[in-house]
Amino acid sequence: MDWDKKRTSDGYRLVEALRRDQTLSVEGFRELLRIEDEPVLECLYQNAREVRHMHYGKKVYTRGLIEFTNYCRNNCYYCGIRKGNQKAKRYRLKEEEIFSCVEEGYRLGFRTFVLQGGEDGFYTVEKLGEIIKKIKRAHSDCAVTLSFGEWDGDAYQYWFDCGADRYLLRHETANASHYAMLHPKEMRFSHRMACLKRLKEIGYQVGAGFMVGSPGQTLDHLIEDLLFLKSFQPHMIGIGPFIPQKDTPFGEKASGSFMMTLKLLAVLRLMLPKVLLPSTTALGSIHPKGRELGILSGANVIMPNLSPMGVREKYLLYDNKIFSGDESAQSISHLRDRMDAIGYVLCVERGDSLM
Ligand code: 5AD
Repeated sequence: MDWDKKRTSDGYRLVEALRRDQTLSVEGFRELLRIEDEPVLECLYQNAREVRHMHYGKKVYTRGLIEFTNYCRNNCYYCGIRKGNQKAKRYRLKEEEIFSCVEEGYRLGFRTFVLQGGEDGFYTVEKLGEIIKKIKRAHSDCAVTLSFGEWDGDAYQYWFDCGADRYLLRHETANASHYAMLHPKEMRFSHRMACLKRLKEIGYQVGAGFMVGSPGQTLDHLIEDLLFLKSFQPHMIGIGPFIPQKDTPFGEKASGSFMMTLKLLAVLRLMLPKVLLPSTTALGSIHPKGRELGILSGANVIMPNLSPMGVREKYLLYDNKIFSGDESAQSISHLRDRMDAIGYVLCVERGDSLM
């Protein structure tokens, strides 16, 4: 028997089964994620595109990202803005600065603003609540998304009552022992999972997600991530390759695989057909066509940077992060051209989840 041919035809069968059943057995996922055969991968991406076209057509939703503080009380081993990184130049935006980012974004056409920051206690529950209310009062047609880490349920509820619509909190890994390899012991896997559950109960559109190729990650961990996401049914999923940041404990580790990230985007599109799936900054940072190839693998969201130019180089979760040129919200017309060139249409509507 010709084993190469058999592997290829098994590959096509797995893609077909995944599209039909929206899941696979653990063994099936193992085989599919090991495939590097170009024609099979092209078939996987093609199927992911077809499924995304059924629900979202050729639209690419945009979100204006405002990185409002890089102070953080946590010490995640992978992250450049971890508390222990003495070399990080810290900043926090004043309320007026946040609003002027929003105003500029609104003028540029953005109708979703993502307030992302380290877990910085300077922004008390009330202070952040005021910011949310003010944005919603000025622009009731806009969605406000928070990406601000782990807080207690009352804080999440309060911000929701102030008008926040969505919350991004990557689970980082669905395996408890792997979680403990990525985080110091005061950070608890169970707490992160409890936060995600609570956010969903409150009524947020919730985003989970993980890094591809984070240190210690095995193929079976990735499969656990896929199965967790399938059962949790988040509205959004953020995944991108791990990229080392030199001043962190993982500074010498290897980056995650670009191809594996594309494969996982396509697999997730087939598992959760209606999910909002960004082609992330990390993907754009490790490959010049990363954003485009993410979209061509089933992603349907892009989050250009609206943070003030002067602070962007300080929000360094990892090295070589892209933050100027086409990454800028200000260059939205270039981004539109880039999407146009691959047959997609950048759009400015809120882009709520269909789930
Ligand atoms: N490489 C890639 N992604 C990272 N993140 C944090 N540090 C890194 C890194 N070194 C991701 C985490 C976090 C999100 C905001 O950024 O998954 O949840």
